[in-house]
Amino acid sequence: MGSSERPVAKPTVLVTRLVPGDWRDRLSLVADVVTWDEDRPIPRDILMERIGDVDALYCMLTDRVDADLLDAAARLRAVATMSVGTDNIDLAECTLRGIPVGNTPDVLTETTADTAWLLMLASARRAGEGIDVVRDGKWGTWKPGFMLGSDVHGTTIGIVGLGRIGEAVARRAQGFSARVLYTARSRKPEAEARLGVAWRSLADLLAEADHVVLTVPLTPETRHLIDSAALRRMQPHATLINVSRGPIVDTDALVEALNEGWIGAAGLDVTDPEPIPPDHPLVGMVNCTILPHIGSASLQTRQAMANLAADDVVAALRGERMPACANPGVYEISRSEPRG
Ligand code: NAP
Ligand code: GLV
Repeated sequence: MGSSERPVAKPTVLVTRLVPGDWRDRLSLVADVVTWDEDRPIPRDILMERIGDVDALYCMLTDRVDADLLDAAARLRAVATMSVGTDNIDLAECTLRGIPVGNTPDVLTETTADTAWLLMLASARRAGEGIDVVRDGKWGTWKPGFMLGSDVHGTTIGIVGLGRIGEAVARRAQGFSARVLYTARSRKPEAEARLGVAWRSLADLLAEADHVVLTVPLTPETRHLIDSAALRRMQPHATLINVSRGPIVDTDALVEALNEGWIGAAGLDVTDPEPIPPDHPLVGMVNCTILPHIGSASLQTRQAMANLAADDVVAALRGERMPACANPGVYEISRSEPRG
C-alpha cells in the first residue's frame, strides 16, 4: 500500500448474542465484529436502529428478519442464523433483495436426534415423574405395579418429516428393534431401502405409531399440523415427541389430549408459547416432559453451529457462495441486478 492510500474499511458484522466457540476469529478475518453482549435477545428497536450500519447480520432463531428490518438495512449483504430452522427469516424477501441467508444444517442433526430419543424414552418410561418421586422423598419400597410406563424397543415409531433429523431418529430405531413409519411431502424410495422405513399418510401414521416424532420445519403448511383431529387419531398409550417448532402442535388441543387420555404422554423440546410460563397447564402435567429448547445444546454441536454460521458470513462477504445457504435461489439472480 502506498503512503497516500487509505486502508480500506472492513465490512461490519453484527452478532446478536453471546455465542460459544472461535467464531470471532473467523469473522475478524474479513469484518469488524460488533456484538450484542447482553444475555437476552437484542430488543427489536435496537436491532432496527443498528441494522442500517451493518453489512452482515449473524443472528439467532429469536431474531425476526422480515421486510421491515430489511427495509432499514441499506448495506446488508448477508444474513446467517445460528440454527437450521429459518422460520424466523423471510427467505423470499431476502432472495428478492439479493441477500443470501446462511443456516446450520447437518452439524446439529445427530445431537437433535439424540434429544428426540431422550424425550421418547423419558416420556414412555415416565422419567420425569420418577425423578420427582425421588426428589420429593416419595420413593417407598420396590413395588411390582409402581410407575409402569410403555416400552420403546420393539414398538412402531412414526416420524413426521424424514429429512436430516428424521433420518437420524430412524437410524437409532434400528438399535431398539423398532419398526419405523414416516410421512413427508414426497416419498423417499432410496431412504426406504437404506433405512427399512415405510411410508404412510399422516393420518395412517398417527393411527399406527406408538411414538410419533415431529421433525418438520415450521411453515404455513405445518403450523398446527398436529391439531385436535390429529391427536384424536393417535392411540391412547402413544407418545408425541416434538423437537421441531412449538407451533406445529396446537397447544390447547394437546392440553385436552393429555387431560382426556387421547394420548399417553408428550415430550416437548419446543413449545408454543416459548418459553412456556411455569403456570401453563402443560408444565404441571405428569405426562408431559418439557425441555427448554436444548435440542442441539451440546458444547461440541453449538461450537460447530457457531463456526458454520461464521463461515457463511465470511463466504458471503468475500463474494463466495455460502457453505450452507437456505435460499440458494439467490445465486440465480444476476449479479448485475441492483439490490432492493
Ligand atoms: P430437513 O432436512 O429439511 O427435513 C425436513 C423434513 O420435513 C423433510 O423430510 C420434508 O419433507 C419434511 N416436510 C417439510 N414440510 C412438510 C410438510 N408440510 N408435511 C410433511 N413433511 C414436511 O430439516 P432438518 O435439518 O431435519 O430440521 C428439521 C427442523 O427441526 C428444523 O426446521 C427446525 O425447525 C427443527 N430443529 C429443532 C432443533 C431443536 O433445538 N429442537 C434443532 C434442530 C432443528 P420433503 O423432503 O418431502 O420436503
Ligand atoms: C434449533 O431449533 C434450530 O433450528 O437449529
